[in-house]
Amino acid sequence: MSETLIELRAVSKAFGEAQVLDGVDLEVARGETVAILGASGSGKTVTLKTINGLLSPDQGSVEVLGFPVSELEERALVPLRQRVSYLFQWGALFDSMTVAENLAFPILEHRRLSREEVPNRVAELLAMVQLEGIEALYPAELSGGMRKRVALARALALNPEIILYDEPTTGLDPVTARTIAQLIVGLHRHLGVTSVLVTHEISLVNRVAGRVVFLHEGRFIYSGPPSDAAVNGPDTVREFFAAGGGDA
Ligand SMILES: Nc1ncnc2c1ncn2[C@@H]1O[C@H](COP(=O)(O)OP(=O)(O)O)[C@@H](O)[C@H]1O
Ligand SMILES: [Mg+2]
Repeated sequence: MSETLIELRAVSKAFGEAQVLDGVDLEVARGETVAILGASGSGKTVTLKTINGLLSPDQGSVEVLGFPVSELEERALVPLRQRVSYLFQWGALFDSMTVAENLAFPILEHRRLSREEVPNRVAELLAMVQLEGIEALYPAELSGGMRKRVALARALALNPEIILYDEPTTGLDPVTARTIAQLIVGLHRHLGVTSVLVTHEISLVNRVAGRVVFLHEGRFIYSGPPSDAAVNGPDTVREFFAAGGGDA
């Protein structure tokens, strides 16, 4: 039997009058890559943030790697955050730090390696995203695609068991987006991480996701392989695929 690493049970979350999640269930097994699809504003980012405890649900339970996330306070989540990486929509690098300092940050913060060992690990991480030798540059000196790759390298710094990606290719030109998509596909084959991916890019979904779940009016109205979703999904899901991914 496959091991469940992420489990959301009847999760609800409202902001003021808006019921964003309305009793959501989701299970992700070890090694799976699940894409969360849905219109803009449907609650995809809220779902991701709920998974790693950046947001706590109003109702329901969230369990990740055996941690009862929805019952823990911020401090108790630190050990979990070392095992679950969150790749933010805009990368979120520290502008005042070099690439090397950005990559060293999580490693030193969690005392994974001694200072002497850090440069080797930084070089190794940059090689994984095909950006060797840019340690001394600042984020402002990088292109948008390079920044995304450095953010991806930083997300890999602690050898996470789970990676949560929020729109990893949104806002990039098609060629750069393709490069990032290829990188993610390669990393998944190579590292065997479990991941949840929020994206509008159908081509990325088709290449990396074993399963898609579709968020609509606060619930997942579909769960299945991308090839099936496009053909046999409910109207809303088929329309989304037919439109090539909808509004970003
Ligand atoms: N921290 C917050 N405070 C108030 N409203 C929020 C917050 N986060 C998200 N929302 C609202 O929840 C809804 C879903 O947001 P989000 O999950 O970011 O959508 P998306 O599917 O585009 O990622 C939106 O209407 C958004 O305005
Ligand atoms: Mg979002």
